[in-house]
Amino acid sequence: MSSESVYKKYPKNEASNLIALLQDIQEVHGYLPEDDIIRVAKHAGVPTSRVFGVATFYNQFRLTPLGKHVIRVCRGTACHVKGSLDILQTLEAELGIKAGETTRDLQFTIETVACIGACSIAPVIVIDGKYYGGLTSKSVYKLINEYMKKD
Ligand code: FES
Repeated sequence: MSSESVYKKYPKNEASNLIALLQDIQEVHGYLPEDDIIRVAKHAGVPTSRVFGVATFYNQFRLTPLGKHVIRVCRGTACHVKGSLDILQTLEAELGIKAGETTRDLQFTIETVACIGACSIAPVIVIDGKYYGGLTSKSVYKLINEYMKKD
């Protein structure tokens, strides 16, 4: 689906379609580009500030593109107890971004997630769908540097 077909799908000046419209635009781009936020506002007949408000309120929406590698750091209780904060901080320091951000070269995105059902191997991270468990600051440092070298 293209942006154009998304806009065609929804009638103009129908504010009740705002969330569905944003979801479809995000489906097309993987995030909500600023130009589309402005266009969605015009299309739905609402102020741009309201669209930004909705896009930032719901965490299903992203205002920045995802990186090539998406790193999900589990911050559930079992992982927290086993040191997931150290894991997260090591990744943030190595990549120079905070959770929820993407590196400038669009290679990596870090996200935090609630329990991903692998507590027995806590602390766990998932990179591009692949699970890595039993991590330490040292092993995650090594792991992320291997990914950095790959690209
Ligand atoms: S708390 Fe992290 S996998 Fe369950």
